[in-house]
This record gives sequence, C-alpha cells and structure tokens, in this order.
Amino acid sequence: MQLWGRVAHDIDSGARAAYDKCIRMHNAVRWRATLLKTRRSYVVSTTTHISNEEMLQRIVRFEDVKKRGIPLMFIDSILPRHQRMNYSLVGDTASENPEFDPMLTQPHNFQIGMVKAPPGSGPAYHTHDYIEAFMPLTGQWRYYWGNSPDGIEGEATIGPWDFISLPPGLWRGFENISDTDSWLFSVLEPHAAFAGKDPYWAPKVITEARTYGFEADERGKMIKPPNYAELREHLLRTLNPEEF
Ligand SMILES: [Fe+2]
Repeated sequence: MQLWGRVAHDIDSGARAAYDKCIRMHNAVRWRATLLKTRRSYVVSTTTHISNEEMLQRIVRFEDVKKRGIPLMFIDSILPRHQRMNYSLVGDTASENPEFDPMLTQPHNFQIGMVKAPPGSGPAYHTHDYIEAFMPLTGQWRYYWGNSPDGIEGEATIGPWDFISLPPGLWRGFENISDTDSWLFSVLEPHAAFAGKDPYWAPKVITEARTYGFEADERGKMIKPPNYAELREHLLRTLNPEEF
C-alpha cells in the first residue's frame, strides 16, 4: 500500500507540475496577446489624426441650434396642444418632414434631437420601432403611455435631469405642463429615415391631421397641404418669435 501510495503521489506531483506549466504558458500567451492588442490600439489611436478644425466642427452651439428648428416636423405638429419646435443635432432623428438638417453629419451610432414646446403642448400619441429616451432640460413634462393606441395605462411627471427611456412598440405621448416654453433633449437608436411609417400615430391623430391637409405616405414622408408655407411661417412666428 505504501508503494502504491508513493507511485500515486509521484503521478499526482507530475500531473500537477504539468498542469502548472500549462497555466503559466497560457497566461504568458494571454499576456502577450493583451500587450499586442494594447500596442495595436495605441498605434491606431495615435495614427488617426483629427485636426483642430475638424474637432471644432464637432461642437454644436445652442445659439445655432435655435436658428435651425423645424415647426412642422410631424403631421401632428399642426394640431392644437401638439405644436412644437423640433431640432436635429445628430443623425436623421425621427421625422416625417425632409426639411430637417442635422447640425452634425459625421457618423454616430445614435441620433440626438431636441424639442421646444409651449405650455400644454407636446407630441401626440404615437410609437416607434426603436427606443427613444428623453431628459428634460427645462420645465416639467408629463409622459403617458399604454400598450395600444386606444388607451393610457400609466403616466409620470419628470423635470430637469430626470430621464425616461421609452421601449419600441410602447404607445406614448408627452406634454409640457409648465407655464413657460420648455426644452427636452432626446436620444434615439439609429434608424433609417423614410424607410416606412415612423412614427406610427394613433388613428385619432391621423384623422385630425387630415383635417389640416397633413398625412404621411407609406414611407413615412409628409404629404403637405397647398398652404404649407403659410402654416409654417405662422407657426415659426408663434413658436419661435425670437428667431424669426
Ligand atoms: Fe417619438
């Protein structure tokens, strides 16, 4: 028994030494791989040259943003209680109106917009195929939501520095419940503009918008009424008098 015990001990020791050697080699290989990866990213980051001029072009000044608002970005934007200004900072944002002109056109893996709404106003009941999230910059905002276009199942009031993330397919609307014009900052998942209906509006909203001559085609692009230019100017004067 003692002999077999010794043999077993020797076998265990040999196996353990071999195992330890394997671990050391494995760690060495991983360490070298990490080092190479680090060196590679270091080389890439130092060989990608961004000029000061390019960098300065990636700064968006709020004073410029305010001049680039769109008063009729969506078919509901003409409706009382839903009139508002929409701003596109990065990417295609959500839009039914091809007039929008993003402040930054460099590729980003997200889209950023802003909204300014007068008291009692905000987007009508709608949904998207992608997440949209909001942070109020000023004012108090009531958000309401539901799982169908027919009813509201929940609501919450949020203010500056609060944040709300609305999942795809959830029906939602929101309104500025303050007594002054208020601003929202929004982040959206990337999505193609004019690839289909976007947003999806509650049937009631579509019916109301039609009475003003507004609707969206199958690609989600706004069909404008003959008096569009006149309506646009009226809304600009009303919603954005300081920039008109
Ligand atoms: Fe939306």
